[in-house]
Amino acid sequence: PSRIRLHHLQQAKDNGEKFAMLTAYDVMMAEIFDSAGIEMLLVGDSAANTVLGYESTLPITLDEMITFTKAVANGAKRAMVVADLPFGSYEQSPAQAVATAVRLMKEGHAHAVKMEGTAQYAEHVQAMVLAGVPVIGHIGFTPQSEHALGGYRVQGRGDAVQQMKEDALALQNAGAFCILMEMVPSPVAAEIDAALAVPTIGIGAGNSTTGQVLVWQDMLGLGGRRTPRFVKKYADLREVVGNAVREYHQDVVSGSFPSAEYEFKE
Ligand code: KIV
Ligand code: NA
Repeated sequence: PSRIRLHHLQQAKDNGEKFAMLTAYDVMMAEIFDSAGIEMLLVGDSAANTVLGYESTLPITLDEMITFTKAVANGAKRAMVVADLPFGSYEQSPAQAVATAVRLMKEGHAHAVKMEGTAQYAEHVQAMVLAGVPVIGHIGFTPQSEHALGGYRVQGRGDAVQQMKEDALALQNAGAFCILMEMVPSPVAAEIDAALAVPTIGIGAGNSTTGQVLVWQDMLGLGGRRTPRFVKKYADLREVVGNAVREYHQDVVSGSFPSAEYEFKE
């Protein structure tokens, strides 16, 4: 299958079609998602939560992100692999953003990066794009700013709508090929999508965006943690895995595993 490229995503927007993105952090899930037809795999800094067990996305390092990105790139035959710029790795200057994005592409084999930030980061986007890095702008609720934003809450209500639209346009005009909106009222996301030429991706942003994204452990029910209201749970892997492992444990302590069929003969 040929690789999903920027123009395929732009075509989807232009033709009123949709595409799906899922997070991935390792090769095996990347292979499964890729084979299932998912167009974009996001090596999200949500790995801080879902893989490393931190309370927020802030502690994950660029080196850790590069390791996860390499693994996902090894499993993605068709999907576009997008890596997050982690907290602290891009804010200081456009040059810092370029250096970080280049490492994610050169060492991590990402095809594109995603950056959280408002119009104030337009220069960062421009510098990365100039360096040959495709960039997704992430607006609305941006988890790296959790403490500044006062916790996980819906963004872009009331007076904030116009500003959010300006942010989206500024990032697009700086060269972002896509805008991701997180936890934004659906009518606001629809309005921003309509104002933009580039495709949009939503999470908790309703059904008007070009694409959708979810964290895979949330949508497959692996996490024990409470999932946000915008997550649809497509499976209960926590139960599936828990039951299988309990059965294995039972078999081992009872002596029924390994039975003859799993033994080597002389
Ligand atoms: O890190 C992540 O998983 C994300 C998505 C939730 C958009 O940024
Ligand atoms: Na993220």
